[in-house]
Amino acid sequence: MKKILITGGAGFIGSHVVRLFVNKYPDYHIYNLDKLTYAGNLENLKDIQDKPNYTFIKGDIVDNDFIQKLFEEYRFDGVIHLAAESHVDRSITNPMEFIMTNIVGTVNLLNAAKYIWKNDFENKRFYHISTDEVYGSLGETGYFYEDTAYDPHSPYSASKASSDHLVRAYHDTYGLPVIISNCSNNYGPNQFPEKLIPLFINNIRSNKPLPVYGKGVNVRDWLYVVDHARAIDVIYHSDKVGETYNIGGHNEWKNIDLIKVLCKVMDKKLGRPEGTSEKLITYVTDRAGHDLRYAIDSSKLQQELGWKPSLQFEEGIEKTVDWYLENQEWLDNVTSGNYQKYYEDMYGRR
Ligand code: NAD
Ligand code: TYD
Repeated sequence: MKKILITGGAGFIGSHVVRLFVNKYPDYHIYNLDKLTYAGNLENLKDIQDKPNYTFIKGDIVDNDFIQKLFEEYRFDGVIHLAAESHVDRSITNPMEFIMTNIVGTVNLLNAAKYIWKNDFENKRFYHISTDEVYGSLGETGYFYEDTAYDPHSPYSASKASSDHLVRAYHDTYGLPVIISNCSNNYGPNQFPEKLIPLFINNIRSNKPLPVYGKGVNVRDWLYVVDHARAIDVIYHSDKVGETYNIGGHNEWKNIDLIKVLCKVMDKKLGRPEGTSEKLITYVTDRAGHDLRYAIDSSKLQQELGWKPSLQFEEGIEKTVDWYLENQEWLDNVTSGNYQKYYEDMYGRR
């Protein structure tokens, strides 16, 4: 049985990756390593937590002794590394957490993998999940390609850029069999309501203001999270080593236009007169260093590995709103902080 370590599996994207791998590959044992920061929520994995090929491990990737021992004990065949501090606004107020987890944590994992695999890299894999934000900001036109020069602006994107460079350095210097993907903005079920879409869904349902940064003209390229998980599956199982793949939905939206679509869908789903939610839009001070536009060219992934997004945005946003409205308890638990008791309840008694 192959042993695969997925880091950050209790978070938004990680939980979708863990679910996909546990269900699709019964002959793999999936180890989900997560510190359970504010962003980690084991309720995301309720449906698979008792599967025989799944194990949850609570731990911090910054703790080097712990990571070394973990790798020596389990001798993983592959690593899919998603654990990170991921919110730009938090990186502006507290950059050091980002440096520690995103950079030091990644190097701890690289060292541990290099140590247990020695020079026998046959069928081994270190897959690092990254973001398109490392490429910086586009003007009105153009796309990010795999060879676009890095130009990060926020402490978040700078820390991810640094981790990408280190992952590549371990390939070039030690021959570690790494692969990297850089994805555009994700949306969908289980996203922590600090990011744009779930925050605004939550505020609309509670009739709270919708804080639009600056003039709302910044552009993001949105991908449904399950499509990202599918891409990760395809890339992990390709035979490419040392490669980078961009992942994106060819789905650019100006923030204010996306917010208006979201307001319309929410009005419809909540049975409110059209225009009700738009009245909650409130323009606030812009984010410092706010990147204007991200847009991914994912044709390398589409042509080489045959992946393409499965959902159109209109369908994805309806599915997302439906999920949050059908899972208001999840949202209530997250906003009240109750979700943090889940680990105690589920694992504390074992
Ligand atoms: P998230 O914030 O929802 O989840 C991060 C997870 O990592 C949480 O479960 C958290 O508990 C865990 N974690 C944080 N610090 C840790 C540590 N020191 N040790 C162990 N676990 C720790 O993030 P997400 O949105 O799911 O993003 C996952 C990955 O994908 C990140 O690497 C992020 O940079 C990348 N990414 C995210 C997006 C996006 O739109 N969300 C887009 C492209 C790439
Ligand atoms: P976010 O979801 O934080 O993702 P990222 O900054 O990684 O792209 O933000 C998406 C866009 O929405 C970004 O341009 C900032 C903007 N935004 C707001 O206008 N208001 C908000 O309250 C948030 C969280 C984001």
